[in-house]
Amino acid sequence: MADLRNIVILTGAGISAESGIDTFRGGGGLWEQHRVEDVATPEAFDRDPDLVQRFYDMRREAIQTKQPNPAHEALARLEHEWAAREGRRLLIVTQNVDDLHERAGAENVLHMHGTHLNAWCTQCDVRSRWTGTLIDRPECPECGARALRPDVVWFGEMPYEMERIYAALREADLFVSIGTSGAVYPAAGFVRDAKALGVATLELNLERSQGSNWFDESRQGPASALVPEWVGEVLRKS
Ligand code: APR
Repeated sequence: MADLRNIVILTGAGISAESGIDTFRGGGGLWEQHRVEDVATPEAFDRDPDLVQRFYDMRREAIQTKQPNPAHEALARLEHEWAAREGRRLLIVTQNVDDLHERAGAENVLHMHGTHLNAWCTQCDVRSRWTGTLIDRPECPECGARALRPDVVWFGEMPYEMERIYAALREADLFVSIGTSGAVYPAAGFVRDAKALGVATLELNLERSQGSNWFDESRQGPASALVPEWVGEVLRKS
């Protein structure tokens, strides 16, 4: 680990589970309570925008009542410590649309599936910070059009900043995946991209995921325990 310089960390819903935010799959997950086709596709939004807006309004309100947990805090600490060491880089790529990484103090966070706390105007294409609801069709702060949608990447839509993610993977020495089931591409394919580039790979997850076999090492347990432990190791050994 002594020559570990560039780290790319992928996080999923599992890192926010202990903060009280539902995951998507598994017992009681969101996709057990709602059909993806009803709330998380562009077609669903065309068909029944109220249902979709209500679903994301509920989620947007809920996440603002939640707090970061020790896993978020440990990654923020690692980011700061790493930035203080010359020639080291760390990028957190999250599939999550909550802002718990940032509220824990992390700064270099890439939201590949968007963020709950933005509204996206389909008229002028501007994204505005948004903490309220969209069900009442509020005006876009930029252009005044009543054409705001959640700034969330729906199934069938292209995730954000893919080129920046692949560029970071090309430079990485270590790829770490935390709290994700490996069920959704392109994120689920990053471990194979990393391996093909000769990057070391580590998984930290409550249970084995669909991609566990691809990782050099896979550790099971709650993120709030595994992540601080791993961060301690990295800071001690490198
Ligand atoms: N600590 C660590 N891992 C956990 C914890 C925990 N406390 N709780 C759950 N997990 C793990 C589960 O074992 C599971 O493998 O987190 C994973 C969550 O998987 P999903 O619910 O499928 O969430 P995620 O992988 O982030 O979903 C990917 O799918 O629905 C879309 O766009 C949505 O970004 C999301 C994407």
